[in-house]
Amino acid sequence: MKKLSIIVLISGNGSNLQSIIDAIESGQINGQITAVISNQADAYGLERAKKHNIDQRVISHKDFTSRENFDLALTEALTHLDPDIIVLAGFMRVLGSALIQAFDRRILNIHPSLLPNYKGLNTFQRAIDNQESEHGVSIHIVTSELDNGPVIVRGRYSILTDDKISDLQAKGHQLEHRMYPQVLQWLSQGDLKINADAIMFQGKLLESSIELENR
Ligand code: GRF
Repeated sequence: MKKLSIIVLISGNGSNLQSIIDAIESGQINGQITAVISNQADAYGLERAKKHNIDQRVISHKDFTSRENFDLALTEALTHLDPDIIVLAGFMRVLGSALIQAFDRRILNIHPSLLPNYKGLNTFQRAIDNQESEHGVSIHIVTSELDNGPVIVRGRYSILTDDKISDLQAKGHQLEHRMYPQVLQWLSQGDLKINADAIMFQGKLLESSIELENR
């Protein structure tokens, strides 16, 4: 089976990127990261890519006079690389609808909440403030509406009484580092198919998101 070609977009630490690199190297994902692109020149994730001999580039939003021009430069790079899938892993820029349409159904994002709850920023603080008993992580298809595309998989964890933001972050990261590898494994094996009008999982229409198994 052909290797899944993956591009990872980052802005910072890149621990999700690392989990994908590790899953490729261990054989879990039949794939290849063809490039890591960061909008921040000092993103630590670029070092991670370098260490594993992965093509890494910086396309800084600061070098462009408008959001549209930044998107155009990114679109050009992505078009040239023509990946099967584009993975947003802590990429802190909102993508414009022209770019999203150019790669329709080929962009995934990981969001630190149980979508559709808590779209947007500061999800941990908002969940604590609302005295939620659980929170989680979602991987969804990127559409023009922020954090609103179809959800593929969700992982959940409990919020304990004394939990602080850092506790939720740690619990979330633990799940995240299993989630992208899992979704990319499914894609690379043909278990998961993202078509124009439907998501198919193991031969069946995916009507509601998959729940990550607890370990
Ligand atoms: C993740 O926690 C993810 O939920 C959010 O950005 C963070 C990126 O972390 N979208 P890292 O750069 O992968 O370590």
